[in-house]
Amino acid sequence: MARPGGWFSEEQGQWYKQIVQDRGVRNVVEVGCHLGLSMSYLLELPNPPRITAVDIWEDPGVYKSFCSLVRGKNVRVLRMSSMDALEHVTNRSQDLVFIDAAHDYGNVRQDLAGWVRKLRRHGTLAGHDWNWGGVRRAVEEFHKSTGRRLFVPVPNLWLLDPPRPGAVDAPKVSARQLALKRRREQERARLEALPPHHGVPMTPAAGQPVIQGTPQNPNSSYLVTDSGRVVGRRRKLPRAQFQSDVLRTSPAATRM
Ligand SMILES: C[S@@+](CC[C@H](N)C(=O)[O-])C[C@H]1O[C@@H](n2cnc3c(N)ncnc32)[C@H](O)[C@@H]1O
Repeated sequence: MARPGGWFSEEQGQWYKQIVQDRGVRNVVEVGCHLGLSMSYLLELPNPPRITAVDIWEDPGVYKSFCSLVRGKNVRVLRMSSMDALEHVTNRSQDLVFIDAAHDYGNVRQDLAGWVRKLRRHGTLAGHDWNWGGVRRAVEEFHKSTGRRLFVPVPNLWLLDPPRPGAVDAPKVSARQLALKRRREQERARLEALPPHHGVPMTPAAGQPVIQGTPQNPNSSYLVTDSGRVVGRRRKLPRAQFQSDVLRTSPAATRM
């Protein structure tokens, strides 16, 4: 088969084809197709999977060539951004998602978080350009935050397999949850570093707003909610707000 131009070595193509065959993959999404070089390896399988091809194809000439490559084949073409295409693919429907679109950290991170939701339980995420710094950083972070097992099976390709059943060493939290936890810890550390004051606890009790002042000027108060939000910091709270929000909820405030 005459191959279209693109960025995919023969070794990578043979691996791509092999993994689809070995794992009995029936549904694949390829995000970032260009002229279809990587996809051409799947199309020559005796029993090719159902492929969803996602690309923005900014260049109409490239899009036209891609369409002639896949015409008459079991390929659904979504000419749109990776994020928009998520709306057109059912959750938990895919055996493999292959990512080779934008290569910067932010986009790869978004692609991983979005496309993993389209995988069946034992589905595989894989992609190209492991040697790119942004790709590697996003993939490694995703591996750590989800416990998916990371492999570089042939040069410049990466693969993330689901965690081993029952694995205890793998964190089972999403990247979003980890970021939230990190922000909470930073906020707690920031609050604890504030100067001490007279008798009001530095760390608010769960769910209870607390007024905090300084010994020098107890009325330069601010209200800290336990989500770490600081209201009215370094300015006097309006009297009405002080009475309704603070005195009512924080007995400690009456000592000020
Ligand atoms: C490196 S090329 C893909 C190469 C292809 N897999 C091959 O074998 O030659 C990257 C492709 O991703 C597409 N792309 C870039 N950003 C995208 C995005 N946000 N959503 C969808 N496609 C995108 C580009 O249009 C380009 O065709």
